[in-house]
Amino acid sequence: MNGEVRFLPSGKTVKVRRGTTLLDAARQAGLTIRTRCGGKAACFMCKMSVTPDSELLPIADNERHKLAGLEGEHIRLSCQARVAGKVTAEIPPDPLRSAVERLLAKQAEEQDDKLW
Ligand code: FES
Repeated sequence: MNGEVRFLPSGKTVKVRRGTTLLDAARQAGLTIRTRCGGKAACFMCKMSVTPDSELLPIADNERHKLAGLEGEHIRLSCQARVAGKVTAEIPPDPLRSAVERLLAKQAEEQDDKLW
């Protein structure tokens, strides 16, 4: 084990072998990352932002091509980005979960209105 990944916002940290993908590291940390393509760099659902000081292996041409236009934003496909040392990666909110939370909040608000 010569890599260590800290995931935000949970703060969960996991030690992994060099070359492990961020997606596999997240799974080892017990985090759920929703994907559709099974790690083939096609669905973009596994995007994460990494801190500029994160130690990752050089980006492959395939991933660079997929992320065209996002250069400089420290966005990586977690199924392609491979750990080389210490990494801090932020997992964006799950859009499905966020939508459900918004609906539940709206329902609760409507119920409060009916009570008064
Ligand atoms: S898992 Fe689909 S792009 Fe990474």
